[in-house]
Amino acid sequence: MPQPPSPFLGLQHIGVKVHDIEAAIGFYVHKLGFTISEVHPPGTVPGFPFGLCFIRCTALHHDVNLIFGRKGQIPPPDAKTFDTLRPGMHHFALQVGSRRELEAWEAYLKEQGVEIFWGRAIHSPTHPEGDGLWGENHALYIADPSGNCIEIFCDMGVMDPGRNEVYEGWFRDRLARDGHGPGAAGPPKAWVEDYSFLGRK
Ligand SMILES: [Fe+2]
Repeated sequence: MPQPPSPFLGLQHIGVKVHDIEAAIGFYVHKLGFTISEVHPPGTVPGFPFGLCFIRCTALHHDVNLIFGRKGQIPPPDAKTFDTLRPGMHHFALQVGSRRELEAWEAYLKEQGVEIFWGRAIHSPTHPEGDGLWGENHALYIADPSGNCIEIFCDMGVMDPGRNEVYEGWFRDRLARDGHGPGAAGPPKAWVEDYSFLGRK
């Protein structure tokens, strides 16, 4: 097997196409609290037919790059990315520091009239509040005015790389943080390699 030269440090920014930059700025900047680093409208970006609006929620230049066209150039969405089977982005996720913060985001988004179309949910097969899904992340889901879906979450499961399963110490700490006894549940079992879904022998 070929060996990549280094492991990636992590996932950093995402570029999302928006059909209405004014509505997108209203959502990302004025509702979600992003800061604009700089904007370059269509026609001013060398070698690129669209405009770029760089926004950040950290100290880095951009965490999200809103890609926009002239008015009417990018059609409005006919469905949320969450609901379509077309290839492309499904959702991206913004992390908050704790369950308390996530609960505060839920209340704030409701106050702001932003639809939460899924969650809050704890994606866990074993957590006492779990929804039977995977990852351990505690999440809610919203969409921007162009239908791009965004997860806001805390507590992504920390993996034990040797066993390729959720690290038991982390799982039990998180149970306690969620107000459950440390023995209320155990971490989910490791995924058993099975590629039969590919239909190959
Ligand atoms: Fe997700």
